[in-house]
Amino acid sequence: MKITDLRVQHIISPMGYRIDAPDFSWKLEADETELDTMVVSTRLTVATDPGMENVAAESVGVLNPLGTEMEMALRPRTVYYWQVTETLSNAEVVSSDVQSFETGKMEEPWTAQWITCEKGDRHPVFFKEFGVTKPVKAARLYITGLGVFCAFMNDARIGDEYLTPLCTDYENTIQYMTYDVTEMLKAENKLSVLLGEGWYMGRFGFVSQPGQPGMCDPAWKLIAELHMAYEDGTEEVIATDDSWQAARSNITFSSIYDGEHRDDTLPKTAPEKTALLEKEKVEALHLKERLSLPVTIQEVMKPIALLTTPKNEKVFDLGQNITGSFRLSVNEPAGTVIRVKVGEILQQDCFYRDNLRTAIAEYVYVSDGEPKVIEPYFTFYGYRYAMVEGIREPKLEDFTGLALSSALTVTGSLKTGDAKLNQLISNIFWGQRDNFLDVPTDCPQRDERMGWTADTQVFVPMACYNMNTYAFYSKFLADLRTEQDKFDGCVPVVVPAFGFFEASSVWGDAATIIPWDLYLYYGDPYILKRSIGSMAAWTDYITRMEADDHAWRKHFHYGDWLALDNMNGKVDEVFGATDNAFIADVYYYNSALLTMKAAKVIGDAAAEEKYARLSKELYQMIRDEYFTATGRLAIQTQTACVIALYYDLAPDRARIIATLLEMLKKNNDHFNTGFVGTPLISKALSMEGADKTAYKILHNEEYPGWLYEVNLGATTVWERWNSVNPDGSISSTGMNSLNHYAYGSIGEWMWQNAGAIAPVEEAPGFKKAMMRLVPDMKTGSVEACYDSASGLYKTSWEVLDAAHVHAKVTVPYGCTATLKLVYAVDEALKCQELKAGTYEFTYEVENLEA
Ligand code: BGC
Repeated sequence: MKITDLRVQHIISPMGYRIDAPDFSWKLEADETELDTMVVSTRLTVATDPGMENVAAESVGVLNPLGTEMEMALRPRTVYYWQVTETLSNAEVVSSDVQSFETGKMEEPWTAQWITCEKGDRHPVFFKEFGVTKPVKAARLYITGLGVFCAFMNDARIGDEYLTPLCTDYENTIQYMTYDVTEMLKAENKLSVLLGEGWYMGRFGFVSQPGQPGMCDPAWKLIAELHMAYEDGTEEVIATDDSWQAARSNITFSSIYDGEHRDDTLPKTAPEKTALLEKEKVEALHLKERLSLPVTIQEVMKPIALLTTPKNEKVFDLGQNITGSFRLSVNEPAGTVIRVKVGEILQQDCFYRDNLRTAIAEYVYVSDGEPKVIEPYFTFYGYRYAMVEGIREPKLEDFTGLALSSALTVTGSLKTGDAKLNQLISNIFWGQRDNFLDVPTDCPQRDERMGWTADTQVFVPMACYNMNTYAFYSKFLADLRTEQDKFDGCVPVVVPAFGFFEASSVWGDAATIIPWDLYLYYGDPYILKRSIGSMAAWTDYITRMEADDHAWRKHFHYGDWLALDNMNGKVDEVFGATDNAFIADVYYYNSALLTMKAAKVIGDAAAEEKYARLSKELYQMIRDEYFTATGRLAIQTQTACVIALYYDLAPDRARIIATLLEMLKKNNDHFNTGFVGTPLISKALSMEGADKTAYKILHNEEYPGWLYEVNLGATTVWERWNSVNPDGSISSTGMNSLNHYAYGSIGEWMWQNAGAIAPVEEAPGFKKAMMRLVPDMKTGSVEACYDSASGLYKTSWEVLDAAHVHAKVTVPYGCTATLKLVYAVDEALKCQELKAGTYEFTYEVENLEA
C-alpha cells in the first residue's frame, strides 16, 4: 500500500499561499492483492521539523483523505512538515513520505514599504545591491509589484512564473508571491524588479479603448522583503524603501490586450531615486498571500510551417491555437523595426486578425543590431498564426510558441476509435489550457479575456476530468465572494468584475453550481464550508430581486445566449428563443436546491431547512407556471425541454423527452441550443435513454455541430456554431472567438457515457462512480483513464460486431461503482455493483445499431 498525491489546499507543497486552516488530502494506492485491506485508522501529524519530532498538531481516527482540515495556530514564514500514517486491517502500518507547506507573512506587519518612481516613458527596473557575508541557510523573497512584475537576482529570473501577481480585483486583494532564492545568492547581489502595466494599470475590460488608461492608479508600485536566515541563527532583511534605485528598461509599452514594445537602441539611463508611495495610496492596497497557481510554460512549440501568403506575408503556423507568448531569434541591423502580429485563422490564405476587435495584440521590437532571442514579458496572446515583419529572411527555426497556462496536474485521458472525436477531445483540452490563465476566461485573444461566470460554470465538470482544478477554481470562488461582498450578494456577470456590477441568471448561478460541482468531483466538504455564505447570499439576492411580483423574471438576462432558434436569417443574433423568465426561475430553483444540499453536507440545519422550503416552493411555482394541467411544457424550445428534464421539473418526463426528440427530428437531428441548452442537451437525452440521439448529434458533421468545427480545421472550440462558414470564411467580427471553451462542455457527456466514469452524489470525490457504459458503432472503441480524487479509474470498450462488445473497467482501491452495460442482453449485466478491481466482459448486445 502506498500513500500518494499528498496536497495542502489541493496543492503540492504550497509555499506562501493563503492558508487559514490547512486542508490536507492524499490518496491510497494498493496492488491487486491488497484490495480487501481496509484502513482502520489514520494519523495525520504536522511538525516543525522534517524529522517529525516537534509535533505542532495531530489528528487520529477516521480521517477523510479527500479533505481533512486541521484547526491549528500557524506561524508566519514557517515551514511545516506533515505525514500520513495508516493502520490497516491486516495490522500493517504504512506511512507517507514527509511533505511540507510553508506559510507566508500572514498577519505579520511588513517592514518593507511600498515604493514608486516617476512614470517615465520606459518601464522601470527597481533595484538594490547588497552583500552577503555569512553562509545563508534559507532565503525567501516576499514580493509584489503593480501592474505586473518580473524579479531577477543577479540578472537571473526568479521563479518560472509569468504575469505575477496575476489577476484579482486589486481593490480588496493584491497577491504577493513567495520565492525560495537561497541558491541564487552570491557574495555580491543585485535584486532587480521590472514592472509592466498588466491588468492593474493598463486598459482592461469594456471600460477603456486602446490608448486609454486602465481603471487603477497609474503609479508604478513595488514592495519586497528578502528574508535571509543565516547558518549562525541570525537573520537579515532587505526591504524596499527609498534607498532603492530605479533604472529604465527598454520596454516602452505593455498591455494585456495590445502587446508590448521594446526598443534596444535606447541609451542606458542613470539610476533614479525612488520614493515612498503616498500614505493614502498605500492604505488602498490590501496585500494577501496568493491563492493563484503559477502561470508557467506548459508547452514549448515549434511551428509546423513558415508560410508566405499571397500578400507576401511571412506567417509562422503553430498548427494549434494556443494562449501564450513566443520567442523569436533576431539578427537585423540596428534600428530595424520588427513586428509580430497574431491571429487565429487565415482568410483566403492570408494573415487575419479582425476578430480580435480592438485588441492590438502585437509585439514591436527595435533592434540594436545584436543577434538575440526576444520574448515579451508582460502580455499574452491567443493565436495559432504569427506574422513577422522586419526580418529579411525568417526561418522556421526562428520562432517558438510558448503555451502559457495556470499549472494544473493533468488527470484524464480519453481516446476513441474515431479520429474526428479525438480531435474534438484535443480541442476541448486546449480550450481549457488556453482559457485557464489564472482566471477562467471566456477567450484568450480579443479585448475580453475575462472571467465570464456562465462560461466558467458550464465547463467545470469537463475541466475536472482534464485536470485537477480544485485550487484553480477555489481562487476563482474567492474572487467571486470578494465581488459579492461589494454588491450585497449579487454576483456580477464577470469575476473579477472589472467594472461589471449587474447579474444575470445562469451567469450568477456560478455561485452555487461551481462549489457544488467541486464537491461532487473532489469530495472535499471544505469547499462548501467556504462557499455556503456565498451560495446563500446569491440565492437570497434573487429572492430580494423577486420582490412580490417575480421581478427577477423581468430583469435583464443573457438567457440561452447564442442559441440558433431566434436567428431569423441574421448571422450574429445573440439571444435565443427560450423564455428568459423560465430559465431564470429554473436556475433560481436550482440555486436554492444546491444551497440546501450544501447546508446539509456541512451540517447547517437551519439553512438546510430554509432552502429546502424555498426550493420546494419554487418547484411548485415552476410547475404551476410553465406546465399545463396535462403535463405539456408551455415553452416549446429544445432548451426549455432540456432544462425541464435535466432539473427534473416535468410532471410527465416521457412527454417532454418525446417533444424534444420530435423537435430534433424536425430539425434534421440538429440542436439549436445556446449557452443554457448545449451543455445539458446530451445529458438530458441520456437521462431518458436517448443515447443514440446523443451520439448522433455528437457525430454530426454538419452545421451546427462539434465536428463541423473539426472538419473546418478547428484546433480549439469556437464561440459560435457558425463562427466559420463552410467555405472557411469567418462569419462575423463583432463577437467571434475561435477559442471559447463553453461548448466544450460536451466532453462531460463523453466522459460520463462513452468513458463511463461519473461522480455520485452520495459518495462524492469518486469514492463511488457511476459507470454507465454506452457503446456506439460509429465511435467504435473508447479508452478512458481518470486519476480521480480517490484513485485511478479505467474504462475501455470495443464494438466487436453489431451484436458483441468487449469491455474492461477498473475501480480503484477503496472505491465502488455501479456498472451499467447499456444494450447488454444479459439482465445481470445491465446493472451491477462493483468493488475495487478489474473486470472484463465480452457480451452480447441488442439494439446497438440505430
Ligand atoms: C463573452 C461570453 C459571455 C458573454 C455574455 C461575451 O462577450 O465572450 O462568452 O458569456 O459575452 O453574454
